[in-house]
Amino acid sequence: MNDDFYRIRRLPPYVFAEVNAMKAAARARGEDIIDLGMGNPDGAPPQHVIDKLTEVARNPRAHGYSASKGIAGLRRAQAAYYSRRFGVDVDPDSEVIVTLGSKEGLANLAQAITAPGDVVLAPNPSYPIHQFGFIIAGAAIRSIPAAPGPEFFTRLEYAIRYTVPKPTVLVIGYPSNPTAYVADLAFYEQVVAFAREHKLWVISDLAYAEIYFGDVPTPSILQVPDARDVAIEFTSLSKTYSMAGWRIGFAVGNRTLINALTRVKSYLDYGAFTPVQAAAAAALNGPQDIIGVNRQLYKSRRDCLVESFGRAGWDIPPPQASMFAWVPIPERFHNLGSMAFAKQLLTEAGVAVSPGVGFGEEGEGYVRIALVENEQRIRQAARGVKKFLAK
Ligand SMILES: Cc1ncc(COP(=O)(O)O)c(C=O)c1O
Repeated sequence: MNDDFYRIRRLPPYVFAEVNAMKAAARARGEDIIDLGMGNPDGAPPQHVIDKLTEVARNPRAHGYSASKGIAGLRRAQAAYYSRRFGVDVDPDSEVIVTLGSKEGLANLAQAITAPGDVVLAPNPSYPIHQFGFIIAGAAIRSIPAAPGPEFFTRLEYAIRYTVPKPTVLVIGYPSNPTAYVADLAFYEQVVAFAREHKLWVISDLAYAEIYFGDVPTPSILQVPDARDVAIEFTSLSKTYSMAGWRIGFAVGNRTLINALTRVKSYLDYGAFTPVQAAAAAALNGPQDIIGVNRQLYKSRRDCLVESFGRAGWDIPPPQASMFAWVPIPERFHNLGSMAFAKQLLTEAGVAVSPGVGFGEEGEGYVRIALVENEQRIRQAARGVKKFLAK
């Protein structure tokens, strides 16, 4: 029997599994590990969202299969969000689809639009599904820089000129995970112009749309006129409303891409549980105070991390957005690499972080620190770091 499965063969061992296993073992031994590894929000959605969930769940008619592309009310709520937040009007029927979290949507869109051997341009380092969604679908990845600087377009030009077959898709995502890089509208204008010229689909991941710390709100690529000719954008309730476990995300934009994703999903799922979708609509339509509260929470934690780790002897470049800091490992540990450094930090300081190499080879030399523990715990982590660095 052949057990060398084509798709499994294309997946390298999960880099984070090693650190996760060590973390679990340390906790099983009773050690207090401060987990700044996984980007799992520690908050909860507002009460009116929970109330809507339970109210609809009490309806005996709400327990059947739901709608694969999402209930109409939720798609309308997402269209209303794009209108008020970005000034972009989209048709909830043909330009919006609900996904089981944005990760599912990204993976299934990759399945829908990729043929084995296609070449896809994806950032390195990146959130793993940006690359592996396409690798699972049989594509080859050509890496592009994660930073939206001048080199981005130089490398893109090269990739288009010298790659055979010609790339079909460009993946971007700002504010980025793991790097916390941010992009402005001028960058998106250039991306759209480039994609139109070279007939590339653009997939934009805007999971951290609402977690920005400056005065200028994060833009959407769909604010660029004509972006819809080439682009689709994913957003998520996971971080905005602290609803990661609910698995509700969206894709908005180009009708052909929305159609392709809708088609594939219609074979694969029946949509999220209707009460979850109704409560998700309540999150988008109801009071929005939680967005500001969450933004302030992550900002305070960022400031606390930068200040306390800095005093402990480890300089943290302050992220301008997202819930992560992307941090060079201290100089004297450079030869270790990010994996071995993360393991040492775990065993010696009791602090779990994500090794940068887990996000792609360009992530080597860095670790990602997630702002998912409270300030007291971040300060406790800093004390552990200080002792570790003093050894
Ligand atoms: C950049 C990025 N996109 C997508 C996701 C997945 O979000 P969701 O919970 O909507 O699947 C994450 C989660 O960490 C992320 O960091």
